[in-house]
Amino acid sequence: MTEPSVETLPLHHVAIIMDGNGRWASSRGRPRVFGHRKGVESLREAVKVAGELGVKQLTVFSFSTENWRRPAEEVEALFELLRRFVAADLDRLVEEGVRVKVIGRSEDLSPDLIKIIENAEERTLHNTEFKLVLAFNYGGRDEIVRAARRACRDRDGDLSDLTEADFARYLDTTDMPDPDLVIRTSGEHRVSNFLLWQAAYAEFVFTDVLWPDFGEADMKAALEEYARRKRRYGGING
Ligand code: FPP
Repeated sequence: MTEPSVETLPLHHVAIIMDGNGRWASSRGRPRVFGHRKGVESLREAVKVAGELGVKQLTVFSFSTENWRRPAEEVEALFELLRRFVAADLDRLVEEGVRVKVIGRSEDLSPDLIKIIENAEERTLHNTEFKLVLAFNYGGRDEIVRAARRACRDRDGDLSDLTEADFARYLDTTDMPDPDLVIRTSGEHRVSNFLLWQAAYAEFVFTDVLWPDFGEADMKAALEEYARRKRRYGGING
């Protein structure tokens, strides 16, 4: 029997916790923001490589609801990186058939950022080649609470016959498949409030590589590790 490989994978959706930017920059005597900037380059490369390997959706953790605790200067720098990423890459993403979607608490963002996000989503709405989901001001618990409020409002407070599938439609990820694989870089082994509902059956791959160093070979290695795992969904068959 042939070994499962990246080429034979039924792998639709990969999610990434892009960790280690700060340490990457500090180890070079540079400010943390330098690492985030380099992290955007890794993100561009990850989209390209994932697409080439047949992945259809990439969801990346770009700013968490907990990241507000960082110094204001770093928070503003991360917002600015999102603005610049859209300004620099949107035309190309439109052309390449990439659909862009942002998930998270948009209500806390500035009106200009909300506009930028809405414009990026609108301009790529009909693209079907690949989906790039930016989790920005995102927290899994916050998403679940917002979904519960919406469900409650919609159903006049009566959730007695609400199913898992019904509830999932109220999440920010409505209509998206759950991630098959979650990758976390930088040697940390935590889920950190990322896709708590959606990653219930995901495989996790952890790598010591810091996000700014994460490249094609690392993506291939993560997908190959996934290919070697057997997914059982709580049953006993591989
Ligand atoms: C974690 O590294 C990374 C983040 C909090 C931000 C990730 C953001 C990017 C890669 C760029 C943003 C991209 C867009 C499009 C907005 P860390 O700073 O916690 O690293 P550390 O653990 O080494 O301190």
